Amino acid sequence: MMKTSKLFVDLNAATMCENQDAYGMIENAAIAITEGVIAWVGPVAELPTAFASLPRESFDGRTVTPGLIDCHTHIVHGGDRSVEFEMRLKGASYEELARAGGGIVSTVTATRSASEDTLLRDALRRVDALIAEGVTSIEIKSGYGLETDTELRMLRVARSIAKNRQIRVKTTFLGAHATPAEYTGRDDNYIDEVCIPTLRAAHAEGLVDVVDGFCEGIAFNPSQIARVFDVARELGLPVKLHAEQLSNSGGAKLAASYGALSADHIEYLDEDGVKAMVDAGTIAVILPGAFYTLRETQAPPIDLLRKHGVPMALATDINPGSSPLHSLLLALNMGCTLFRLTPEEALRGVTINAALALGLSDTGLIKKGMRADLVVWDVKHPAELAYRIGFNPLHSRIFGGIL
Ligand code: NIG
Ligand code: FE
Repeated sequence: MMKTSKLFVDLNAATMCENQDAYGMIENAAIAITEGVIAWVGPVAELPTAFASLPRESFDGRTVTPGLIDCHTHIVHGGDRSVEFEMRLKGASYEELARAGGGIVSTVTATRSASEDTLLRDALRRVDALIAEGVTSIEIKSGYGLETDTELRMLRVARSIAKNRQIRVKTTFLGAHATPAEYTGRDDNYIDEVCIPTLRAAHAEGLVDVVDGFCEGIAFNPSQIARVFDVARELGLPVKLHAEQLSNSGGAKLAASYGALSADHIEYLDEDGVKAMVDAGTIAVILPGAFYTLRETQAPPIDLLRKHGVPMALATDINPGSSPLHSLLLALNMGCTLFRLTPEEALRGVTINAALALGLSDTGLIKKGMRADLVVWDVKHPAELAYRIGFNPLHSRIFGGIL
């Protein structure tokens, strides 16, 4: 019954559709929903009579946006890295900690020893923080197992999040995240003996939507990533890449050559890489939480991305090391303040462009035919979502038409 047809009225709709109005804004809008899908949106004065008799809900002039989408998270993981946070404050760098066996590898130890129940319980707490801010779709990566059992366990937990909460989950296999301690100095063997067979096993269980990697001096080089991407291609899975985060190793270009959905972080991306992304339709995923936490000084090349028309998405990158940021609203603010995104670009980055980065074509806009994933906010203007810091103006979250 709740998923049935209804009519939302007295809203200002930031549809995010491309038109001459900023935010694709429709003042005094009505949104008709049938069977969880947007059947009509427009000014209430133009409402077709067919929808006029639907049960109405009035929102008293509040602002509605598409449901928010967090397109890059490592939300399933064991333990925390607050001790490394303290060490970094005393002067150790992220790369030094990683090379000394801390960093990603220390979360691997904690994740390997965590049960499926513990991983799920801890992840759900974090997911609930996102849901409370109007997030309706998220991406979740593996990559803290680096052995078959734990990688598969992480992906099963990611899948079960969508069964335990009203949220859509896209799973990403990130076996090429780091080399585990038992393969130190044998990165190629890890890729061939563990990462690729695990990808095949996870795919066979239907656990993988997308394949990711970490292309970086402290992780894998482009030819190692290419071997993983070749298998992804063979399996018919799309790819994305952690690229150009701490240095330029040509990851974005490589990702683009595989038609990647996105290249993520990209602080050190150059114009050649930007052009390769344009040609491939690869989305730029900007992660201000990691930039902030690691106190990076090189910002992603926002002007080049704008100049070449690369769509930009924005995400939390929730992870225990480089981005313990559990607020997508705060990511909006950071995107604007740290990288000079406009509030409209930032909102586009957590709606339509995040949908594109996940290959989702039925969410991210308020438009006929889209899923009715919507958020009603206690704000007069959508720029307020990026403007305030540490304040959540959510009024209602609608997931597939369910209020
Ligand atoms: O997106 N860059 C690589 N992976 C994560 C960091 C993970 C970690 O430090 O645990 C990231 O920032
Ligand atoms: Fe990441």
